[in-house]
Amino acid sequence: MNGNYRSKQWALIYDQFNQGRYRKELAFYRAELKQCVGPVLEVACGNGMILLELLQEGFDIYGFDISQEMLDSLFSKADALGQQEVRARVSQQDMVDFSYDLKFGGIYIPARSFLHLLSQDEQIRCLRNIYAHLREGGKFLLNFFNPSLQHLLTSAGQAEQFEFIKEFTNPETGESIQLFCKQENDVVRQEQHILWRFSEGDRTHDVPMRLRWIYKEEFQLLLRLAGFKKWKVYGDFDRSEEVTEGSELVWVAERT
Ligand SMILES: C[S@@+](CC[C@H](N)C(=O)[O-])C[C@H]1O[C@@H](n2cnc3c(N)ncnc32)[C@H](O)[C@@H]1O
Repeated sequence: MNGNYRSKQWALIYDQFNQGRYRKELAFYRAELKQCVGPVLEVACGNGMILLELLQEGFDIYGFDISQEMLDSLFSKADALGQQEVRARVSQQDMVDFSYDLKFGGIYIPARSFLHLLSQDEQIRCLRNIYAHLREGGKFLLNFFNPSLQHLLTSAGQAEQFEFIKEFTNPETGESIQLFCKQENDVVRQEQHILWRFSEGDRTHDVPMRLRWIYKEEFQLLLRLAGFKKWKVYGDFDRSEEVTEGSELVWVAERT
C-alpha cells in the first residue's frame, strides 16, 4: 500500500496545485461518461475535484480513495455545497481490491492515479477488478503520461537539492505554504521517487511519493491480461491520434 497523498498538507493545497490541468480532463471524462449506460465510478477520487462537479451535474456517480485526508477534504467541500448524499457514494478503499454490489457503465481513473500502483501484481489485480465491476459494453477510461526516455534519463539520480515549485495559501489559516520538491528516477524499476517539502512559517513537513511509469505497449499487455479485447489510445484529451514521447496517453477500453 502506497503512502502517497496520505497527508493533510496535500489535502490543503491539492485544488490550488491542480487548477491548471483538471478542466480539460474534466471535459474529456464528462463527454465519455455521458455515453455510458448506468452508474459510473471514479477510482482514486481524491478530494473530489472531478467527482463533485459531475455529481452536481446529475451523474449517478460513486468514488473511493485510499487517503482519509483527501476524503475528509472531499466531505467538507461537499458539505459546503450542500451535497449530503455524497457520504453514501464515496468510501475509503484500495484500487487493488475495491468492491461494490453494483456494476458500472463507466469506470475512470483520472490524474494519472494508476501510476501509484508499484507492482505488476497490484496493477493486474486492479485492472481485473475494474473489468469485473463493468457492465457488458461498459467503458474503462484513464490517463497517464507517455514516458520520455530522454527526460527520465536526464533527471535520473539528480535529487540532491530541493527545487521551489510554487507558493500556495492554506485555506484554513490564510498562511502561505511554499512547496518544494526533489526527484529521482529509477530507470530500472521504472519508478519516480519524489520528496515533497511543505514549508509553512517555521514548520516544514516532508511527504514522500513513489510512482511507477508505464509504457504504451506494456499497458496494452496489462489490458489483455485483465480481459479487455477492445481499446483506443489517444495522444491527448482532445483525442488526437498522434502519440509522442512525453504526451499524455488517454485510454478508452470497453468490456465486450
Ligand atoms: C493525483 S490524485 C487524483 C485525485 C482525483 N482523482 C483528481 O482527479 O483530482 C491521486 C489519488 O490516488 C489516490 N491513491 C493512491 N493509491 C491508491 C490506491 N491504492 N487506492 C486508492 N486510491 C489511491 C491518492 O490517495 C490520491 O488521492
